[in-house]
Amino acid sequence: MFSQFWRRLTGTPGASTSPAAAPAAEPAETAAAPAPAREVAPKGEIRVATEESLRRSLTWRSRVLMEGAGEDIMRSDGPALVAALTDANESVIRQPPAAAQRALRVASNPETPMPKVVELFENDPMLAQALLRFSNSVFYRRDSQPTASLQSAVQRVGMNGVQTVLTASLVQTMLCRPGGAYDALVQKVWTHMQRSAPIARTLAPAFGLDAETMFSLALLHDVGKLVIFDHISTLRHDKRRDLKMPDLFFRQMLWHLHEPIGGLSVLHWGMGGEAAHAVAEHHRRPAPTTSDTVTECLFVAETIELAQTNFAKLDWEEVWKKGAITTEMGSVQERMRKTDE
Ligand SMILES: [Fe+2]
Ligand SMILES: [Fe+2]
Repeated sequence: MFSQFWRRLTGTPGASTSPAAAPAAEPAETAAAPAPAREVAPKGEIRVATEESLRRSLTWRSRVLMEGAGEDIMRSDGPALVAALTDANESVIRQPPAAAQRALRVASNPETPMPKVVELFENDPMLAQALLRFSNSVFYRRDSQPTASLQSAVQRVGMNGVQTVLTASLVQTMLCRPGGAYDALVQKVWTHMQRSAPIARTLAPAFGLDAETMFSLALLHDVGKLVIFDHISTLRHDKRRDLKMPDLFFRQMLWHLHEPIGGLSVLHWGMGGEAAHAVAEHHRRPAPTTSDTVTECLFVAETIELAQTNFAKLDWEEVWKKGAITTEMGSVQERMRKTDE
């Protein structure tokens, strides 16, 4: 679907490398991976995750997670859930509705004529509303009048914007009710993804990246968590009861597994290996040994979002150190400052 993804992102056709989805080194959410010595590659290098690299990462992370499991965890629903998630078959990574996939495929084809793109929205009132909301947002509306016409909305946001609206609607099909305290977490994760997206779009030029593509990737970055919640929801339905496991274990499981599961989901939904890599490596642990500006931008954007949500002061030096960010800090701060004015 994102056949033009990389060219759109960096403006370069480039060759492919695949360092993606190397296993994470730390055993717990609070542990920090030591940053290895950096060997910076030229900007614009393509990074692609493959099914094999993502499954290797997922298996390794599951093993690390279960190695520390005590008796209370072994007696809970935790081990069976981790085993199912590690399998990551089609009952875990469900295919989104065919219509959503078809729409994204149509919009991703540069040959698709404008009336065909407009038609996608004319036939779906929910999508039409989402497009109009997006095209009338502060970013696109600027000084112009709000539009109620689908055709002018498509013209205003362009094909990249159309793909963003469709990506958001596809991710929303993963929103579910896993039960109990998990319901609130689903909303919290989705809100975090939605709030990270405009920040990534603002910062993207400072990292030399395409703004709208980074908006889409930030909107997707924690989709692995939604897929995990979606599977819990299915199990809850099958078992006719809530799943039970210690809260700390549940959080560690989310932390360890959401990146490779997100990457695999993106791959299975046909969004391509570059997007899968970005989603699977957005926490940069361990930090890549060559330049990877896409995950740098995602890392910084989501860290800013979390600080804003928690009303915490952002320690820029710490963020750069923790994420092993190679991009110049001043230009990123300047982009943020402009949005605050
Ligand atoms: Fe996140
Ligand atoms: Fe994450």
